[in-house]
Formats: sequence, structure tokens, C-alpha cells
Amino acid sequence: MYLELDGQGPLYDQLTRALKLAIRDGRITVGTQLPPTRELAEELELSRTTVLAAYEQLRAEGFIDGRVGSGSYVSDLHARPITHPSNVPIAAPSRYAQRAREVRNWDIARLHRGLRYDMQYGNPILNPALNNAWGRELTRAAAYTRLNISEVAGLLALRKQTCDYLARRRGIQIQPDDIVIVSGTQQAIELTARVLVNEGDRVVLEEPHYFSAHQALVAHGAELVPVRVDDEGLVCSELPEESPRLIVVTPSHQFPTGAVLSMQRRQQLLQYAEQHQCWILEDDYDGEFRYDAHPLAALRALDELDRVIYVGTFSKVMFGGLRLGYIVLPATLRGDFINAKYLNDIACPVIEQAALAHFMEDGGFERHLRLARKELKTRREALMAGLKEYARDRVTICDTPSGMHLTVWLRGYDGARTQALVEYAHDRGLGLHPMAPLYLNTPDRQGLLLGYCGLSAPDLREAAQLFGECLDHFELH
Ligand SMILES: Cc1ncc(COP(=O)(O)O)c(C=O)c1O
Repeated sequence: MYLELDGQGPLYDQLTRALKLAIRDGRITVGTQLPPTRELAEELELSRTTVLAAYEQLRAEGFIDGRVGSGSYVSDLHARPITHPSNVPIAAPSRYAQRAREVRNWDIARLHRGLRYDMQYGNPILNPALNNAWGRELTRAAAYTRLNISEVAGLLALRKQTCDYLARRRGIQIQPDDIVIVSGTQQAIELTARVLVNEGDRVVLEEPHYFSAHQALVAHGAELVPVRVDDEGLVCSELPEESPRLIVVTPSHQFPTGAVLSMQRRQQLLQYAEQHQCWILEDDYDGEFRYDAHPLAALRALDELDRVIYVGTFSKVMFGGLRLGYIVLPATLRGDFINAKYLNDIACPVIEQAALAHFMEDGGFERHLRLARKELKTRREALMAGLKEYARDRVTICDTPSGMHLTVWLRGYDGARTQALVEYAHDRGLGLHPMAPLYLNTPDRQGLLLGYCGLSAPDLREAAQLFGECLDHFELH
């Protein structure tokens, strides 16, 4: 209990005053049991007699009820009613907080929680073996890590492992010093906004786009410039003539449409960034999950002019609550990002970083990835087969062999009909997630995101069948 003694007069008097003040201003509320006298005496380094005397005084004045030995409780005689005087002006929250409030409410993703077939996207696949392995890694890391040292850029061992991984998997050749470990993509976007975006700066976002990037940029006061996405990803010929500060893209697997940015567009985008002296944030959120033989290398791997800030996350690969990811930084931005990271949270938790570094070094991470990739591929194929059988030509499937969700475009649906379809499906136990809220402007076509991480292959087939029945219903009405 935090009590400040005022140093005036006998100690028991000082303690009595401090307790009265705490009761009056509501820090100790009516009905709360005061700590036992021995405990409070120890905590405040006073004698027990002093505390007993203070409690007796409070009892005599009606501040507390109860007897010594059976507990002392704050009575309602002197307690302050919990109201806030209306004439006291309360300072308004910052512009940042106000702008953050204005962004759309993303609780939409939770609407279908608990349904039999929720096609939720964005959650990694659950793997009980991973939980056990992770538990062992944490115990090991807690025993062997130097706990009171945190490097702002992240644990060197994890940065090294991340470098090896990126060279092997994404064709990115870098040194540990090029990396800052962060608490996931969200922090990477937030730090990028802090370091690069002033209020009113123009930032290009894909249309449609990842909602959390949108939210973070709006909170920082960016002026968003949506640029259309088609089947080859961002339509680079439509990038604005006036230079933006930053372009946020998901080239490997556009979120949410699933398109892969073609090689020609990658070159165009890099040229644009060079000509317009702007930065590119490459969000490679599910780069690990590719089911074709020759995936395209990351945009960062083609970037000879150091304009790309490459962001990856471990939370998508392992489990959402891990909150670890990384940024590969252009050399000129490194210092500023480290300052921002330090001001934000000093560094990421050291035990989790050490556990992950060892998990990667030991091969457990790759094993988990192999298993997850195999299982996801099976689930994806089951969903595809189900859609082809039951939804047939009423939808167009975006058939990119990667990721953790499929995108389907609905033929002949407008916004209202899509909403009605989502509601109808919900009532039958099928959670569908519309694409429309992921646009800044009104979309020219209606789509759905079908996440396949949370359901087994047989369940996905059943979900596809149910989806087909819902489409039947709307055909007849
Ligand atoms: C486009 C995109 N980027 C990044 C992420 C993951 O972000 P984080 O690492 O903050 O969990 C997601 C999660 O759904 C996503 O859809």
C-alpha cells in the first residue's frame, strides 16, 4: 500500500493522517480490509504499536469498523463518493489518441467467434507439439540467459539466426547489424510511422490493405493514398505523381487479395521509389508459407538502392501471442529506428528471444515450419476442392499457392447482398469474413477471405458445402 507520511509530529499521528487521506480521496475504498497491523508495520518499517495506535484512532473516529484480530474494514462514514466534479476541466487526449479512436472498429473479426465453421483468417495453425517444445525452450533459456542485459536491437543470437533464415528462405543477404528485433509487424509499422511520417505526409496503401497498418498510419496523422491492386498486385502505373513519404506493400501475398506482385511490377516499384525518393515498407507477413516450387524472392532482395524496409513476423509462424518479429533496415535508418525502439519499450523480452534463437539453431523451428506448411497445404487443397464442387462458378478463387487464407470474389454481388450472405451464413454456423471493410473507398467487387488455419481438412470440406448451400439460397431469392 502506498502511503506517504508527512513527517509532522508522532509517527502514529502521521500514519493516521495518511490513511484518512487515502480513504477520503478514494484510494482505499469502502469495505476494503486494511492490511494486518504486523504486515503494514513491516512494509512501512514502523513498529507494530505505532500501526495499532493509528488503527485505534481511525476506529474511534469512525473511519474503520471491526476489531483487532478480526480485521479492520473501511466504513462508509467518511469515504468520498466516487464522482468527478463536473466543473473540473479534463485535458483532452492527444491528437494521436483522437485519431486512433476514429479508425474503424475491427471487432468485426470476432463476430463469428464460437461458430461451428469460422473461416477466421490471420491466426496461425495450432500445434500442441509446438507448445511442448516451446515450454522446454523457455525453461532452458531462463536457466542460461544473462537476464539483466537487453540489447535494444535485439539479442545477437536471434539476429544471427534470423539472417541465416532470411538468406535461406527469402534470398535476403544481410548482417545481424541490419536487423532490429521487434514485437511483431505491428510494432514495426508503428516505429516506421514514428521515424518516417510527419502529420500530413502522404503514405501509399494498397487498396484493399492490412487494417492494422491503416490504423497505425492514421493515428500518426498520415494522409493515406490508396492505390488499386489487381491480379498482379499493386498497380504501379497508378502510383501518385506527387511523391509520398512511404509505400506500404505486401508483395509476396497481397493482403487481403492474395495476389503476388509480378517481377515487372517489383522493378517498377523500386524505380518509382528511387525517382520519388520515398521508402517502401515490405510486409512479408506469411512469406514462410509457400506451396509452389519456385516462389519469388522478397522485394528487399532486389533492392540495390536501400529503399526497402523489410518486415517479418514470428507470431504468424509460431503462435499469435509470441509477439516477436524483425525489421531489416536500410543503413541510413538504423540509428533512428533503434532510438524509436528504445523510447517505445527499450527492447524485446530477453528470455523469449533466447528461446527462439535456440529453437532456430537446433532445427526445431524448421521442423515446425515443415509440418505446418504440409498441414496448411492439405487444408488449402481441401478447401479448394470443396469450393470447386459446391461454390462452382459463382465465385472466382484467387489461386495463389501460399498463405493461410483463400480469397474468393463473389459474382453478381453488391455490398448489401454480401452483407446479407454473411448474416445468413452466420445463422447457419458458418463465419464468413467480407473484404469490403479492408478498403478505404467503396470496392468495385465483393470478396470474402476464407481462413483455413482453424479447421481440419474434413471440416473445411463441410464448410465449403455449407457455403455452397448459402449461395444456393441467394440464387433462389
Ligand atoms: C498483412 C499482415 N501483416 C502482418 C500481420 C501480423 O502482424 P503481427 O506480427 O503484428 O502479429 C498480419 C496478421 O494478420 C497481417 O495480416
